[in-house]
Amino acid sequence: MASSAEVTLQEQLGQLYQPELIVVHDAIFDTTAANYVVELLQQKPTASLIVLTGSTPEVMYSLLQEASRIGVVTFEWATLFSLDEYVIDPAHPGSYAAFMESRLFSNLHTSRPTWHIPRGDAPDPQAEAVAFEARIREHVAQNGLIDLAIVGVGPSGAENVHIGFNEPGPDSHRHSVTRVITIPPETAAVNKALFVEAARKHGWQGQDEYPSEAMSMGISTILDTSARLLVLAKGAGKAPGVKRMLEGEVGWECPASYIRCHPNVTVLLDEAAAALLEQ
Ligand code: GLP
Repeated sequence: MASSAEVTLQEQLGQLYQPELIVVHDAIFDTTAANYVVELLQQKPTASLIVLTGSTPEVMYSLLQEASRIGVVTFEWATLFSLDEYVIDPAHPGSYAAFMESRLFSNLHTSRPTWHIPRGDAPDPQAEAVAFEARIREHVAQNGLIDLAIVGVGPSGAENVHIGFNEPGPDSHRHSVTRVITIPPETAAVNKALFVEAARKHGWQGQDEYPSEAMSMGISTILDTSARLLVLAKGAGKAPGVKRMLEGEVGWECPASYIRCHPNVTVLLDEAAAALLEQ
């Protein structure tokens, strides 16, 4: 029999759902991911999306640039909301603004989409986070739910994985919204590599100063504004976190597990990321 504490937790979470699970060979992971975006924009050119950064979607974005180049898809009328951003000068090559510029926008063969990202150099980052949350809620009030939220999980090697920068802890509760978070050492240790690589490549001064804070959509921002979620994970490093996300308890200990509170989720994995799953 469930204890009263469990019943209370269940009531807070609402109904739980079984995400659709798609496991593909590593060789077709990126094309499969890109196809979700292409098909959505072909059906609905004015679609809105929540978009992610990181090493996982890098090839997906280059495939989308190529799809745009050959005229298969256009981002011109789409609206994009970035999931998170460092508290940093957006001109820094390690910023997520710079990531989106270089991986997607720099090489689109049509006009750019409408794009919203928290300003990393806002004088008051928490006020910027609140304003960003208001912008996404206003968009939803006017246009209906975001068509597709694409999120990754991290950091690699962890069992209790984040989405965005919703790190394990009570701050990443089910109803959390966009806010400033302090980046924990486990996440910094993994994410720093991509950041430093970007800084070196562009000869940026102060390249080793990895930011200590970020602004991130909350769990509610992601789940409650989106009609559908696409969760991407590839590589063996993601296997423990994917297992915990899909088979462990739902809660802030593993913030990515909250995806099971959403009725319409597809989890796309390569074989290595799926390797520890029960079935
Ligand atoms: C960062 C971002 C997350 C992203 C994660 C995964 O932590 N804040 O939104 O999901 O990186 O990164 P990677 O794809 O490099 O494993």
